[in-house]
Amino acid sequence: MISNKKRRLAILTGGGDCPGINAVIRAVTKKAILEYGMEVIGILDGYEGLIHNKYRELNFDDVSGILTLGGTILGTTNKANPFHYAVQDGSSLRFENRSADVLKNIEALKIEGLVCVGGDGTLWISHQLHQLGVPLVGVPKTIDNDVKGTDISFGFDSAITIATEGIDRIHTTAQSHHRIMLVEVMGRKAGWIALYAGIAGGGDVILIPEIPYNLEKIVACINKRREQGRLFSIIVVAEGAMPSGGEAAIKRIVPDSAEQIRLGGISLILGNQLEKLLGLETRSVVMGHLQRGGTPTPFDRILATRLGSKAVDLIKDKHYGQMVSVAGDHLTEFPLEQVATGPRLVPAGYELLEAGRAIGTCFGN
Ligand code: F6P
Repeated sequence: MISNKKRRLAILTGGGDCPGINAVIRAVTKKAILEYGMEVIGILDGYEGLIHNKYRELNFDDVSGILTLGGTILGTTNKANPFHYAVQDGSSLRFENRSADVLKNIEALKIEGLVCVGGDGTLWISHQLHQLGVPLVGVPKTIDNDVKGTDISFGFDSAITIATEGIDRIHTTAQSHHRIMLVEVMGRKAGWIALYAGIAGGGDVILIPEIPYNLEKIVACINKRREQGRLFSIIVVAEGAMPSGGEAAIKRIVPDSAEQIRLGGISLILGNQLEKLLGLETRSVVMGHLQRGGTPTPFDRILATRLGSKAVDLIKDKHYGQMVSVAGDHLTEFPLEQVATGPRLVPAGYELLEAGRAIGTCFGN
């Protein structure tokens, strides 16, 4: 039961999870309680909780000990868009606008502000709710690092740490067996994970969605290595990578999800093609959700704590409709309205791309 006495804020976590979300929940809750004497409400399962009025109070003890914990203690979903909410109707799906339920439930919570922790999809919904009068701010969260308006999102560092470890492990077995090994990492439209983990793991070929690849170029790169006596090669490929003039590999369609297409499988497709062209054995490994699970790196714990702390200040200062963001060394704010003009892609000529080329990395073009 909600009391009438205190100032109050709420927090929700939406979309795919990533390491560091709990560190944000902890920072927001502790700061709101300690610095502003507020009550904190945790909305359960993202916008699903706002539609169905599912929440819990968060006190100091609830958020003690969660700094190092992966996932989100509040739960999340990438299926509950209040403006396009999927309802099973017999064997078919229909979509309803449930934003009125959200507005009613938020009104009843009597909050000063709502902190929405999410990627581009979640933050776009936040923007739409803000336009309907909901006092809210956003916190960017994604392993893909593709949220527009921030130099970096928490979760990314943890993901590249895990992906790099995967590449390192693949390296030794590829070397022993003189094989071509492909490591598929996440990244639908943006190749940040493939680029960073690929460079950190010494990938010989790095394929990202922003640079459509040409099979002949990859073959030439591998053959050149073999001529130099390097009998193995590591290919790091983003799930959204695509051949020049072709399409990304679709793994499945999730009809009741806001973003229905799930990518995946490019490493197997490409591995089979290269095996035929090169006459060499290939093996493919998909890092998948390993990149999203587990404990956040120290960098992500710190970033999440800074962003959570700043989000509470934005609520206190009534800077609604903004996302806390990173610009260089500083935290700043960025209009949620502009987040939807993303995603944030690896730009042509990006310094790390050029550094990779300079040391002989092939980007498939
Ligand atoms: O947005 C993060 C992300 O990890 C993507 O890179 C990936 O394609 C997607 O989420 C997978 O989401 P899920 O399997 O949870 O539906």
